[in-house]
Amino acid sequence: MLEQSPGVRVRRDVAEEIRKKLHEIEALDTERRPKTVGGYVVFPIREEKSEDVQKLGLTIVYDTFERRQKVRSYKELVDVPENLRKYLPTSYDQVGDIVLIKIPSELARYAKTIGEAIIKAYKSVKAVYWDLGVKGPYRVHELRHLAGEKRTVTIHKEYGLRFKVDVSKVYVSPRLAEEHRKFSEYVSQGEKVFDMFSGYGPFSIFAAKRGAFSYATDINPYAIHYLYENTLLNKVQDRVLGFLSDCRKVAGAVKVDHVVMNLPHGSVNFLKYALRTIEKEGMIHLYVIEHDEKIKQRIESVIRTIEKMGFNTDLVEISCGKPYAPYQSYYGLHLRVLRGFQRNLNIIM
Ligand SMILES: C[S@@+](CC[C@H](N)C(=O)[O-])C[C@H]1O[C@@H](n2cnc3c(N)ncnc32)[C@H](O)[C@@H]1O
Repeated sequence: MLEQSPGVRVRRDVAEEIRKKLHEIEALDTERRPKTVGGYVVFPIREEKSEDVQKLGLTIVYDTFERRQKVRSYKELVDVPENLRKYLPTSYDQVGDIVLIKIPSELARYAKTIGEAIIKAYKSVKAVYWDLGVKGPYRVHELRHLAGEKRTVTIHKEYGLRFKVDVSKVYVSPRLAEEHRKFSEYVSQGEKVFDMFSGYGPFSIFAAKRGAFSYATDINPYAIHYLYENTLLNKVQDRVLGFLSDCRKVAGAVKVDHVVMNLPHGSVNFLKYALRTIEKEGMIHLYVIEHDEKIKQRIESVIRTIEKMGFNTDLVEISCGKPYAPYQSYYGLHLRVLRGFQRNLNIIM
């Protein structure tokens, strides 16, 4: 049975004007639905605002109002055939106010319906794009617009830092926020960082926020454009130097304490260049995507490669392990390297 709660009863022709006034003084009870009775509209109000409402010259009445159902998932609103509901994606990426969603082929013809349901269900989402995967040398999402604004630029937040990105022009994955932050915990004031595959600059900027100086390289002009915008947004423009360049060209010219290598399908091929930037000792933060049952062999192979180049290596930590595909995960290997010492393999697993 519905309980009675306070409201105001107004003529229909002035209802919109009164609704705005109630909204302005934050008196509207948005958890309940207004109702129409004959030529009148009854607005539910918040009890504690009764006096303010009376000051507007309105009389309080008691009535029953239907409670608004809170939508917990877009799935409650989406209209797809019953036998296909099991294919509805349960997760997606939200970058600022833009959603990137992978749609299974069974639901391809309902992609727009899914996009519209997401917009309806979540106030914070202003645009929805079908994510057709990360492609090409710049690792950029191929996108198809589904619903909401046709806009691809947004402000994405990670642990209090703000990043302007164009999701159609630079690589971005909100799932890496924790990795960006975690890496920066290794970095101290005054240290130098080489971010070989910088993208819009999260690793470099997190490190700069800790008082380090970051050299960042990327071959994608948009990545370097947003890297610079983001150094300004986060007020670290004097502690980040970006190069629109292949990282291999810059590797010979800088000496650093930390090298970040986030090109998960290819980082390992760049180890030789990363090590050139370490004078005596430092850390390599290498990200790889690997089958879970093969990660141990992969780590051993990385360590052997580094040692062949004349460094002693310690694996300090394996971070993340986030699922990437069935039985494959995204791993962060944090390795301490010391030039010219004897082999001392130390694998924590
Ligand atoms: C996976 S994204 C990483 C972006 C960023 N580090 C992050 O965490 O969001 C890899 C980036 O490496 C860049 N890239 C690929 N090959 C490169 C190279 N040889 N030298 C410099 N950048 C490269 C791509 O353009 C892309 O922006």
